[in-house]
Amino acid sequence: MLRGKNILIGISGGIAAYKTPYLVRLFKLAGADVKVILTDSASQFVSPLTLATLSENPVPSSFIKEDDQGAISWNNHVSLALWADFMVVAPATANTLSKMAHGQSDNLLLVTYLSAKCPVFIAPAMDLDMYKHKSTKESLDRLAAFGHAIIPAEEGLLASGLSGAGRMAEPEHIVAFIVNHLKGLQPLSGKRVIVTAGPTYEPIDPVRFIGNHSSGLMGYELAEYASKLGAEVVLISGPTSLVVADETIKKIGVGTAVEMNKAVLAYFEASDIFIGAAAVADYRPTHVYDQKIKKESLANPNIELIKNPDIIAGLGKIRRHQFLLGFALETQDVLNNGTKKLQSKNLDAIVLNSLEDSGAGFGHKTNKVQFLSKKNGLKSFPLKSKKAVAIDIWNEILKEL
Ligand code: C5P
Repeated sequence: MLRGKNILIGISGGIAAYKTPYLVRLFKLAGADVKVILTDSASQFVSPLTLATLSENPVPSSFIKEDDQGAISWNNHVSLALWADFMVVAPATANTLSKMAHGQSDNLLLVTYLSAKCPVFIAPAMDLDMYKHKSTKESLDRLAAFGHAIIPAEEGLLASGLSGAGRMAEPEHIVAFIVNHLKGLQPLSGKRVIVTAGPTYEPIDPVRFIGNHSSGLMGYELAEYASKLGAEVVLISGPTSLVVADETIKKIGVGTAVEMNKAVLAYFEASDIFIGAAAVADYRPTHVYDQKIKKESLANPNIELIKNPDIIAGLGKIRRHQFLLGFALETQDVLNNGTKKLQSKNLDAIVLNSLEDSGAGFGHKTNKVQFLSKKNGLKSFPLKSKKAVAIDIWNEILKEL
């Protein structure tokens, strides 16, 4: 969720500021790029140098900056605000909350906040009576009404020696709150998606198999983008050299069509969307030799085949609420054959790619597809990278849902 995100942390002057280096670290460990701004009083509680070191970015605290030669320039709060995918004000003191709620702008944190168009998360921190005060409540209500997310203060021992609500949420809780919030904003939040990808290898003997040229890339891109849209993704992959960068995707490696079928059936019941992007072998050798076949040993060098389960057609028979998307790779009469497959396998939609198009299909980084839906008919797309094709396909699925 946070990988590659630009996160701007605004720290105001409360004792809880001492916890913010840890917050920076958690965001960095999650793969985000982090920038920090401080109010003057915050810099008495936490060192800008610590924050600059951990965030690997300079930490401005005033409107102007001075270089080694003493030349003065302006700290561009507008570009800082626009850079951010989201802003976190933590700790937000009663003073900063009140100023944010009323558009005051007498420090760098406040002007940056006023320039920000991104989602803003606010983690208040103060003594319990200040937190309970009507004016604090009014500020928080106003900020919530602006559309900002308030991360509730936690209960416990406070710097005053009193105990109660007012502690800044622990850094781990701030991160979890933000991740959950961002997930809720996503179109596939709460949805479970299964994607099959790659070829299957059907063994003949311990060293030989029947396979195909599928690289798996299309399926991997579809899985990665589904995860970006907030889905819980299971990727069931035949043998490929690809790795999944997104650690939230559960990848299950399989070899044969029978193994792929078994893995799919284990997850299908609880899933919402199934995408069959794998190039599953239609047949497998009837007999798998225990030892490597010697060329001299075969009187009759033929391989007898039996049919593999058609995974997606099987799902078409047992499906309930699930959305089923298949792929069809045809060498001729693409539309006709695709339409037949859509119907015979009881799918909702099918992605047609033709081997007649150069740069499309197996072994290419690009693909040219048509999306054929039972409900919405045919839509054609130009040749694009498989990453871009995955986005097109998901946009079509979202329309269908
Ligand atoms: O019938 P054909 O193999 O052309 O259909 C392609 C679609 O069916 C793809 O979505 C593929 O993943 C799926 N399929 C399957 N099991 C098979 C063969 C194909 O799920 N044994």
